[in-house]
This record gives sequence, structure tokens and C-alpha cells, in this order.
Amino acid sequence: MLNVKDVFVAYGQSQALHGISFEANRNETVAIMGRNGMGKTTLFKSLIGVLPLKSGSIEVAGNAVHKDESYKRVAKGIAYVPQGRMIFPTLTVEENIQTGLENAKVKKVPEEIYALFPVLWDMRRRKGGNLSGGQQQQLAIARALVTDPKVLLLDEPTEGIQPSIIKDIAKALNEIRKLREITIVVSEQVLSFAMDVADRLFVIEGGRLVHESTRAETDTARIKQFLSV
Ligand SMILES: Nc1ncnc2c1ncn2[C@@H]1O[C@H](COP(=O)(O)OP(=O)(O)O)[C@@H](O)[C@H]1O
Ligand SMILES: [Mg+2]
Repeated sequence: MLNVKDVFVAYGQSQALHGISFEANRNETVAIMGRNGMGKTTLFKSLIGVLPLKSGSIEVAGNAVHKDESYKRVAKGIAYVPQGRMIFPTLTVEENIQTGLENAKVKKVPEEIYALFPVLWDMRRRKGGNLSGGQQQQLAIARALVTDPKVLLLDEPTEGIQPSIIKDIAKALNEIRKLREITIVVSEQVLSFAMDVADRLFVIEGGRLVHESTRAETDTARIKQFLSV
């Protein structure tokens, strides 16, 4: 469903991604693990089109998207939950979700979204800025989901969120995949979360994928080594 081939990205003269290649299938969740500064956010920004590729290709369901602007990639089926959530603090919860429906015919938030995240229904008239970090993360996921993506990208969704809520987010991602059979790509530093959601795990180091394993064959001690400084 998502096919990333030999992606190179640079900030000016400084090379950040050195030939990233991976595939993620329909109804599969893939985790990209890595410490700070290893290239996770750069990879996600290049997938959604915030950063241009120097070379390489990105396909969604067989369609090349790497030359498209972000809004076109969204139309072709990619949704993006950025690191730090980036919800609109002065808009209500409902309005925040509706920003994801900008190009939809019906602006009503689908009931399924509130069924997945009941707390968002309870808080729908509150300002986004008044939600806790975990609630904002759920809001950011809801906003991405209403675009009806084939591929959902989440950049460090557990960052700064308390352990009990991390469990809720893992449950929601697993529920979303079961309901919609979409592809989920998540970047992470929390290994327990990745092991809860991912069918396959990659490790990124210095802008290169240096490890791949299925969940069943994952040697967690080895991954922890990659994640420790
Ligand atoms: N806007 C930027 N300008 C220059 N270098 C950047 C910029 N953003 C990130 N980098 C560099 O790119 C590398 C990867 O960063 P990033 O993708 O943010 O890593 P991660 O998300 O894994 O923490 C780091 O060396 C970082 O310093
Ligand atoms: Mg990052």
C-alpha cells in the first residue's frame, strides 16, 4: 500500500536521509523506532510532502505521490499526525476535527470517530488548547482519520503522554486497523507501545534503516540497545 524507495532528503548541504526504502501493506502496522535526531520526523515530513525529496519515490496504492503537494497526497490517501499534535488551540474539539473535513461534502463528524474516542464527544465544545496531551493526541488522530486515509502516519504519538493514556492510544490504533484495514506507520521511542501495535518494526539510525523484524521475531533487548544512547 505504501512503497518507499531509496528516499534521500537534505537540509541544504546537510544530508538527513540516506536512501530509505520500505513497504507497508494494507492492514499492516509498521513502527519506525529511533532515538532523537535519527531522522524519523524528516522521513514523515518527506512522506506527507512538507519536505521535498532529493531523489527516490513514494507510492500509495500504486500511485506515485512524491511530486505532489501535501493536499494532493491527502486526496490520494495519506493522512499525517505530526509530532507535537499541532491541533488548533483556539478552535473547539469539533471544529478541529472538521478542519480534516475541508474537502468533504458532508461536514458532520462521523459517529464512528466519537465511538473510537468517546472523550472527544464529551469534550466536543471545549477548546482544543484546554485538552490534556493525551486528549490532544486523540484529537489529532481523529482529525487525520476523517480524511478516510489508506495510509495513516503518526510521528511519535506517545511523546509526553502518561503511560495509562499510551495504552488507550495503542488500543485505538488497533481498533482503527481492525475496522478499516488501513496501513499505519508510526514512529516511536517507546518500545512497549510499538510492540502493542506493530506487525513489523524498523530501526532508523543516522537517516538509514538499520534493522527490520516482525513483531514475533523481534529481539527487544537488541531494539533497546538501539534506543539507548
Ligand atoms: N530544519 C532543519 N534544518 C537542519 N537540520 C535539521 C532540521 N530538522 C532536522 N534536522 C536534522 O536532521 C536530523 C534528523 O532530525 P529529525 O528528523 O528531526 O529526527 P527525529 O525525528 O528522529 O528526532 C538531525 O540531525 C537534525 O538535527
Ligand atoms: Mg521527531
